[in-house]
Order: sequence, then C-alpha cells, then structure tokens
Amino acid sequence: MPQKFYITTAIAYTSRKPHIGNSYEIVLTDAIARFKRMAGFDVFFLTGTDEHGQKIETCAKEAGVSPKAYVDEIAGEIRRICDLLGASYDKFIRTTDDYHERAVQKIFKKLYEQDDIYKSNYKGLYCVPCESFFTESQLVDGKCPDCGRAVTPATEEAYFLRLSNYQERLEKYIEENPGFIYPESRKREMVNNFLKPGLQDLCVSRTSFTWGVPVDFDEGHIVYVWIDALSNYITALGYNPDGSGGDYKKYWPADAHVIGKDILRFHTIYWPILLMALGEELPKKVFGHPWWLFGEDKMSKSKGNVIYADTLADVLGRDAVRWYLLAEMPHAQDGSITLERVVERYNADLANVLGNLIQRSISMVGKYFNGVLPAPERERTLEDAALEETALAALPALENAIDSFRLADACEIIVNFAKRANKYVDKTAPWVLAKDEALRARLGTVLYHLIESCRFLGVLLGPFMPQTAAEILRQINAGAAVGLESLSTFGGMAPGTQLGEPSALFARLKPEETLERLRNEG
Ligand code: MSP
Repeated sequence: MPQKFYITTAIAYTSRKPHIGNSYEIVLTDAIARFKRMAGFDVFFLTGTDEHGQKIETCAKEAGVSPKAYVDEIAGEIRRICDLLGASYDKFIRTTDDYHERAVQKIFKKLYEQDDIYKSNYKGLYCVPCESFFTESQLVDGKCPDCGRAVTPATEEAYFLRLSNYQERLEKYIEENPGFIYPESRKREMVNNFLKPGLQDLCVSRTSFTWGVPVDFDEGHIVYVWIDALSNYITALGYNPDGSGGDYKKYWPADAHVIGKDILRFHTIYWPILLMALGEELPKKVFGHPWWLFGEDKMSKSKGNVIYADTLADVLGRDAVRWYLLAEMPHAQDGSITLERVVERYNADLANVLGNLIQRSISMVGKYFNGVLPAPERERTLEDAALEETALAALPALENAIDSFRLADACEIIVNFAKRANKYVDKTAPWVLAKDEALRARLGTVLYHLIESCRFLGVLLGPFMPQTAAEILRQINAGAAVGLESLSTFGGMAPGTQLGEPSALFARLKPEETLERLRNEG
C-alpha cells in the first residue's frame, strides 16, 4: 500500500480576482504534490475558495448582484487561474458547497452541546451605520475605522469557543512536535506573541450580516467565517461529526497545510484547538510561506502595482511563471517580483541554460548521428564520471530540499546540473571531435552523456515545469525511463533510440519588447 500524503493550500477569498501572490501558494503546493506522486505517495491535494463573510457581502452589494452570483463569478476566475497554472488538485472545495455548509453546522452544534462553545455577550464599540463592532485598538482617532463616525459601547449576544481550556494541551503539542509550526522562526513568533500572553475565548458567531453558514439552532446567528473556512480541510474529505467517510479515514491528518505567514495564527492556534475539541488528530505540519512584494512594496490595487498570473502566463507561458515563483522565493524572507526580474530570470535560467542545453544536445545527435542515439564506450573520462556523479546526486538533494519546503533550493539544484552539462559541452567540444573520424566513438560517448543528462532534467523538472518536462522527454524519446526510480542509474536512455526534432523550448526574450507586451497585457 502506498503511503498517503494529504496537502492543502489556504482557500482564497472570493472578494476579488487573485493576484500573483495568492496564486503562488497553488504553484508551490502543486510542485510538492507532483513530486510526492512521482515518489509513489498516494497524494490528495486540496484547494478551493473561502466565500462567506461580511466583506464579500459588501462587495456583492457594491457590484449590485447577489452574494451567490458574486462568489460564483470570482470562484470561477480563481479556479480558471489554478487550471491555467497547471495545478493538479484532487478536489476544489467551495465553502458555499452544500455538504460543507451542513458539516459546519454539525461541527458547531457538537461543540455547543459538549460546552466547548457557549453563549454569552460580546462587548465592544459599535458603529451603527456600518453595523460593526470594533475593539479600542482598531479605532482611528477614536472613531470608526471604516466611516470615521463616532462609535458607542454596545453589547450583543454571541457564541464563544473556549480556547483557554486547550491552551496547555496545545503548548504541549507544539513542544513535542517541533516540525508542526514551520519554519522555526514562525514558531517562535506564534508561541511568544500569541500563546505565552494567554488565550482568550474566541467569538465564533456574528449577527450583523447574513452571508454565511447559519447557526441552525439559533436564528440570526452566523458561524464566524474562520470556523467555517478552517473546517474545509476536513469537510472536503467527507468529515462528519456523526461518522466520517472513507477519504477522511484514509487521508486525515493532513501532512501539510501550506499557507501564507499572515494566517499562521488561525492555523496553529484556532484550528488545532477546534480539532482537539472535536476529538480529531492534529495536522502534522503547517508551513507558513513568505509573501511576494512588488519590488519592495506590498502589492495593492490602489497602488496600481498588482501583477496577475494570467498576464504573465499569456506572454511567457505557464511553466515560466511557475519557474519564477518557485525559483525566486526565499525560504523565510519575503520575495520580490518585478516584470524586469521575471524576464531576466527567464533568459538566465530557461533560455540560456536549460533550453540551450537541450536544443544543442539533440541537434548534435541529429547532425552527427542522423538523430540515432549512439552507445557510450566502456571507457569513461574523468569529465564523464564527474557529470554522471552530479546527475546521480541530484535526486537525493532534490528530495531533501522538497521535504523541507525549500523549493528555490530544489530549482537551483536542477539549474546547476544543467549548467554543469553545458560546461561539459564546452570542455568536450563535440564539434572538434566530429572533425576526426578516429574520435567517432568518443563523440558518441559525449553525446550519449548529454542526452542522458537531458533525460535526467526531463524527469527532475516534472514537478516544477510539467509541460516542459514532458516536452523534453518527448523530444529525446525517453520511452519508459521517465520515473524517479530511473534516476538511480546513469544509463536509462537506450542506445539506438531515434530522437525527435529539437524545437526551442524557451526562445531568448528581448527585454524591452517583452516588458512592453507584459505592460500592455496587464
Ligand atoms: N480565506 C483566507 C484563508 C482561509 S484558509 C482556511 C485568506 N484568503 S486570501 O485570499 O486572502 O489569501 C490566500 C492565501 O494567499 C493566503 O495563504 C495568503 O497568505 C496568501 N497571500 C496573500 N497575498 C500574498 C502575497 N503577496 N504573497 C504570497 N502569498 C500571499 O487568507
């Protein structure tokens, strides 16, 4: 039986079209899911949309449509962008799905019946025109932060979750499972800023709007959107407090929740407590990734510095967008994206290194051997051995990098291997060997090494650039030698294989012209 691997992304709000920052998480998670599938795991990859709450209700009102019509459109757009980026999700959940809403109601009721949720009064500062409660610290100059009018102290009935009852157990879990909050720097932040000061019970219902999951035993109350949203990770698998289905039994607990650093608190405090109260196992890992900045600034529509994944994909192709996002984002600090940098990296990694290697390797077999892959000699030079060694070391290093969510390191391992193979071309100079008939066998050995290196690259690139990887393997006609297990020996390509015609994978971009096209598209 293959080992299971359950991985999820955060579910995106359907308040607006997602920018490249939101799309990043899908690509990151997809690369990990694809790698795990290639490594033989039984993977379940979940993504979806978070569709309830006051903000979305307001957006719909402004657009003059019903909340449902509004979220249908944006959820469609989010899913379209996921597909465009090649996300291989197994399920796309929407929090407006019937089965999810029913399960959330049952979860809420169960927690109420067992007294983990209780009814009390919410005391806060209320803005009547905005129908919103605020805390003292949220006010701007003592006034409503939204409309600037005066607020008045008010009390409202609401439900609360007893976070404080679970504080000790959660602290113990975090201590005993050092990899749970990841990376380490984020863990310190959570423990010191939120757990140490002590948890206060969390208000888990609202009455000021209606666009949400109703509390089914108390009319007028709506389940707090984060309780609704977090539950997606289990409802998507068919979780039901009265007895869950097979997928839940098979895949839960999650092996990794991949989320942005801003929502770590919800995933490492509220979510585990909710699960403890339900008597369910806790996720094994929550990976809080950094954010994309536009240059050095936060991306925002009002600043006009928002980049969309589909704009880039239209001009550069889906794989180039994936590559940039995976290769450029640091492990723990924020990443920077600018159109100039995207074009630069495209030319550096994809056109000059990868594309160039593949194209010239296949072309030389075409030119010198009529496209039929020659057999290598038994004798190997130091140069050959060094290339083989680098190839064989790539997969273990890649596996290590992916298991520790260091995707940029994984990309670097691949590019460095391709650079190494380009150097091999320069050092062995096949065009010189070709001039001397006596060196024909040596020429065959060199070209075999190059095409076998292309095969390694085709396999290794699978999780990162699936279309490109498939195209490389097609061009060299790799046959069955396309799985990760085939990378444990250097020699998977069968001599005598008829290679296909090389076609440029990544043509070198003219920066000015490309930037202009990208700006016009955006
Ligand atoms: N709906 C919540 C998540 C609920 S999960 C149960 C939410 N949605 S979001 O649309 O605002 O964000 C979706 C994901 O995108 C989050 O993980 C968030 O951190 C991430 N990002 C938002 N802006 C980002 C960047 N600029 N860069 C990288 N990731 C970004 O939060």
